[in-house]
Amino acid sequence: MITYETILESKNYIDSFGGFKPQIGIILGSGLSSFADSLNDKLVIPYKDIPNFPISTVKGHKGNLVLGTLEGKNIICMQGRFHFYEGYSMQEVTFPIRVMQLLGIKILIITNAAGGVNKSFSTGDIMIITDHISRMPNPLIGPNDERLGTRFPSTSEVYDKELINIVKAVAKKENIDIKQGVYVGNTGPSFETNAEYIMFRNLGISAVGMSTVPEVIVAAHGGMKVLGLSVISNVFDENAIEEPSHQEVLDNVERANSNLLRLIEGVLQQI
Ligand code: HPA
Repeated sequence: MITYETILESKNYIDSFGGFKPQIGIILGSGLSSFADSLNDKLVIPYKDIPNFPISTVKGHKGNLVLGTLEGKNIICMQGRFHFYEGYSMQEVTFPIRVMQLLGIKILIITNAAGGVNKSFSTGDIMIITDHISRMPNPLIGPNDERLGTRFPSTSEVYDKELINIVKAVAKKENIDIKQGVYVGNTGPSFETNAEYIMFRNLGISAVGMSTVPEVIVAAHGGMKVLGLSVISNVFDENAIEEPSHQEVLDNVERANSNLLRLIEGVLQQI
């Protein structure tokens, strides 16, 4: 069972490597794990070595915490995340966010691969998540530990406006055509039906994925500010239906990696 004490045990293990004090957490989604290579003075801690940590099972997701610096900031990166569809409980999916919380993280940058339903999107675009709609069980269901957060946390401002303005300014400077929109989190693992993609678009949603929402809710509970970035790995078009595949998602995300790196580096410079 996950308790405050099991979270603390994981945190203490990470502290035992010289007491590195991370300021910013970054979750690297499908196909995006190479970002961690750009950190300086890296320390790689495999998830399997960390007491109480779940272990990642999906292709394209490594299972490491990578600690290091970038643009003068102390960073902790998750190379690979845990998904509800893998069979983990919502508490397991969000366990690393709790560990980051106890490590003192106040800003979390979350990336993912997502399907685009906005007609103006193209494969390889990067979308700022301005808000989300959840179609997953809430990770805060169950007893509330007040040491971790309040019973009924607000999530209305969790996608921080200031961080959104910063990333927009960086995109402009770097000449990256950045999109923005609402992300819907589904459980997966099946991709959506055509009717579902159309429904989401009609609801004003721009991107569809299978992650992020639980981590953002727990980050809000833990008092963090979040910047969410989706890499659009496939775009739904009812006039040219193409079946999405996991390999396609990975290949298309790979191509957006360098833009994502430039964006995140630019944001780190300014916070
Ligand atoms: N749907 C859900 N999740 C996804 C998709 C999609 O089309 N593409 C990448 N992750």
